[in-house]
Amino acid sequence: MTTIQLDSTPHDDAQKNDATFRRAEMRSAGLESEIVRCPAAHRVLTGDRPTGDLHLGHLLGTLANRVRLQRLGVPMTLVIADYQVITDRDHAGPLRNRVRTLVADYLAAGVDPDRTTIFPHSAVPALNQLMLPFLSLVTDAELRRNPTVKAETQAAGRPLGGLLLTYPVHQAADILFCGGTLVPVGRDQLPHLELTRAIARRFNERYGPLFDLPDALLSPVPLLLGTDGEKMSKSRGNAIALGADETSTARLIRSAKTDWLRQITFEPDARPEVASLLQIIASLSGRSPVDVAAEIGDAGSGALKALAVDVVNDSLRPLRARRRELLADPGYLDGVLLAGIAEANATANDTLHRVRSAMGMDYLS
Ligand code: TRP
Repeated sequence: MTTIQLDSTPHDDAQKNDATFRRAEMRSAGLESEIVRCPAAHRVLTGDRPTGDLHLGHLLGTLANRVRLQRLGVPMTLVIADYQVITDRDHAGPLRNRVRTLVADYLAAGVDPDRTTIFPHSAVPALNQLMLPFLSLVTDAELRRNPTVKAETQAAGRPLGGLLLTYPVHQAADILFCGGTLVPVGRDQLPHLELTRAIARRFNERYGPLFDLPDALLSPVPLLLGTDGEKMSKSRGNAIALGADETSTARLIRSAKTDWLRQITFEPDARPEVASLLQIIASLSGRSPVDVAAEIGDAGSGALKALAVDVVNDSLRPLRARRRELLADPGYLDGVLLAGIAEANATANDTLHRVRSAMGMDYLS
């Protein structure tokens, strides 16, 4: 029997992380041309927790990129990570409604349910069964020092639960069950993608080749700040929700934290709040933030905010109208989910079958 080195020391890790980031960055840059050349050879897998409405940060950071990849012809699976909601809280909230709204957000942003599989995690038992063999391939030390697990434990302000500890492992199951090869992530999520690659590699070494190693696709848009200057987030009340109406969008943007300098310049380090508003305007209007700053010139924060209000409300108008229509038809949204669930179950059953066969557990066939 071959033994597999499952672990490394924290010191190795720090050095490895830098190298990992550089490698991921280079791979991610090279992937674009390969995707365009042969989109059908890939599958995008990503997802969201149904903890609240999606906001502008999601749209610019990841949704727009998903839709772009879908239009290039890359098959895509979106997991609505409902079990992940209870990694850091006791109550899952009004899940049924949130899941429907999330589907409406996706479709309104341009996700096409005929080309993309959308399903809630809990509705696919075979996917969740992959957790057991995968857990055997990681150590508790490895999970404990995963930066995402650490950061989320801190943010949750409560003792580390078993589900949060093992969350990179279920994300590995999400990615590997459907043969995901491309995972659009922010830089902060790279370590857990590395763990997914490690799990796939270790499984293949132990039981024979079965899983492709997925690659991170780094987001081209930097993290957006919320109106209070902190990271834009559903739970902080500082986010412009995709579904917000125009009046509250205007109110939120006008209340955004900025600075007193009249001359508007794009300096992400020195003036992060101003830079974030410029970035929002630039991304939505297909211009560069430096040009937008130059156009506003010395008209000050008031003019910057007025422009942001107009650009955000104008660009989101069609999406918001479509979202309202979709939400008025819950039967349709549920139908999209049911089709996604059927598809995901078929894929997961097939993968689990092959996993069991590889492990000598194929009693039923
Ligand atoms: N953890 C992600 C979030 O909080 C959602 C998610 C679940 C995910 N499974 C995934 C992302 C697999 C990428 C790959 O938004």
